[in-house]
Amino acid sequence: MRVIIGSDHGGYRLKEEIKQWLQEKGIAFEDVGCDCPDSVDYPDYAQPVAERVAKKEFDRGILVCGTGIGMSIAANKVKGVRCAVVSDTFSARMSREHNDANVLAIGERVVGPGLAREIVEVFLETEFAGGRHQRRVEKIGALEE
Ligand code: RB5
Repeated sequence: MRVIIGSDHGGYRLKEEIKQWLQEKGIAFEDVGCDCPDSVDYPDYAQPVAERVAKKEFDRGILVCGTGIGMSIAANKVKGVRCAVVSDTFSARMSREHNDANVLAIGERVVGPGLAREIVEVFLETEFAGGRHQRRVEKIGALEE
């Protein structure tokens, strides 16, 4: 499992918490920043995460901002990216099983660090169910053409 992670200032502290959890679990990751809580623009961090997941350099991307919303809107502009904003573990599981989401967006101002860790764990461990969902995901891809 190769993970790439990024945040803006609104998600910086939660990104650091998630990185600590990834380290504890022995999951390899690359951090594209930001590197401190100073104000930055979230599309600048969504772009490298989304593009490198789309190129299949990484299996999954994790993006953190204040709400997760801006990051998800930006990431979903990149062809091949299916980014889900998630704030509960059920949605995290569904985003993988049904939607084959390859990027997770979380809001530091929405979920606490304990729940965020569980969301990340479910997101990374759950496989795509395929079957009828495969056809639907392919139709999402067709919208990009
Ligand atoms: C930054 O204040 C905030 O707008 C950003 O982190 C994010 O929540 C945007 O969707």
